[in-house]
Amino acid sequence: MRHLLDIDDLSGAELERILDLAVTTDPPRVLAGKGMALVFEKPSARTRNSMEMAVVQLGGHPVYIGAEEVGLDTRETVEDVTQTMAGYHSALGARVFAHSTVERMAALDALPVVNLLSDAAHPMQALADLLTMRREFGRLEGRSVAFVGDANNVARSLALGAGLAGMTFRVASPAGYGFSDVDLDRIHTAGIEPQIFDRPEEAVAGADAVYADTWTSMGQEVEAEQRRRDFEGFTVDRHLMGLAQVGAVFLHCLPAHRGEEVTDEVLDGPRSRIWVQAANRMHAARGALAWILSENGSQP
Ligand code: CP
Ligand code: NVA
Repeated sequence: MRHLLDIDDLSGAELERILDLAVTTDPPRVLAGKGMALVFEKPSARTRNSMEMAVVQLGGHPVYIGAEEVGLDTRETVEDVTQTMAGYHSALGARVFAHSTVERMAALDALPVVNLLSDAAHPMQALADLLTMRREFGRLEGRSVAFVGDANNVARSLALGAGLAGMTFRVASPAGYGFSDVDLDRIHTAGIEPQIFDRPEEAVAGADAVYADTWTSMGQEVEAEQRRRDFEGFTVDRHLMGLAQVGAVFLHCLPAHRGEEVTDEVLDGPRSRIWVQAANRMHAARGALAWILSENGSQP
């Protein structure tokens, strides 16, 4: 059974297929009469809404489930919740803290599992990011994206996705916030060689897209003050954007912390593509679900 826990679950051809399915005007109704369970341990604006609408557009019915409702590993085990959902649904999406939770869900092979963000990965975001850049640039191969900030879940998935699509992935993080050796091993195993810099200016120089995410991810709130100090100098502002390629675009997965990782001027400026990027979450989700359901033989 195929699952989508991170981008390296896909081949380059499969990634391209998902991006093609994301823009088809006639999406296959692979979920007609079927359901998808969406379990959230963390809050969400974009992911919940884009997933629910993508399920509807494929003919299906989404069921939002707050983690407190099913009590993952408190009311019953992750495995028992997953097996229960497989009795009603054709797919399960989950937003979790520990990445091992989505791995445990997938290990049952009871139904296809889609990672809706874990502490380690955010593949649905990366698909939307690639879709946004493909629509912007025409093709992805040979283009570059510079990620400025914490080498977090969003950065890991984007590094894998950009690399798989033939882009150059550049990243600049403060000391102690870069990719770990384990991350780099995984990225290298996928055949990708990210370019790693100490200073944002070096990463951004000549890049086709500049990407920022929060300095403090969900679950790290107690570190917020320390992180604000450690990330000083890593704000994407007009000066930094000015070092990128002429016509470069600014991307952010959102939610943004205005005045921290990015200035209002950049977020709301002419190079920003944040709203089309957010809207592309739904199109990318529809492509990914159409692909995974077809792969798993869930054609109506
Ligand atoms: N980008 C993203 O995943 O947004 P939400 O946390 O609002 O779902
Ligand atoms: N890195 C952020 C992304 C939010 C969509 C987090 O995990 O909170």
